[in-house]
Amino acid sequence: MTRVLVLNGPNLGRLGTREPDVYGSATLDDLRARLEEDAPEGVGIELRQTDDEGTLIGWLHEAVDEGMPVILNPAAFTHYSYALRDAVSIVTEAGLPLIEVHLSNPHAREEFRHTSVVTGVATGVIAGLGFDSYRLALSAVLRRIPAAS
Ligand code: DQA
Repeated sequence: MTRVLVLNGPNLGRLGTREPDVYGSATLDDLRARLEEDAPEGVGIELRQTDDEGTLIGWLHEAVDEGMPVILNPAAFTHYSYALRDAVSIVTEAGLPLIEVHLSNPHAREEFRHTSVVTGVATGVIAGLGFDSYRLALSAVLRRIPAAS
């Protein structure tokens, strides 16, 4: 069984009620269900959310130790967390795909959102497509792990 880690940063646990005009009215549970539907036979979706930077970094270390590909929405950490960037770099340096995703298009929003300290060390980035950002990322990571393609 190939496990794909789908990691979500701060405030994404409030999806469904948080700024629905920006993020939509579906929840993280809805997202999990959608990705589980999309996942081919033999691929497990492990979706997690935390508001805590250290926990998120620990999960990235776990991805390296367990050899798991990652879909990461770093939320606001995207814009300033060098510690998270360094952890992402450990994942991609280990040869594991890590796709940065965003529900909204940060480049169409406030200026502080135009900078991502993560993108430079991610495998790729998909933004602005709501849940489709994650769905496309799932297909991208699966293409990049020989055992699951
Ligand atoms: C976000 C965009 C970030 O700027 C913001 O801080 C979030 C969510 C997105 O998915 O669009 O929390 O990552």
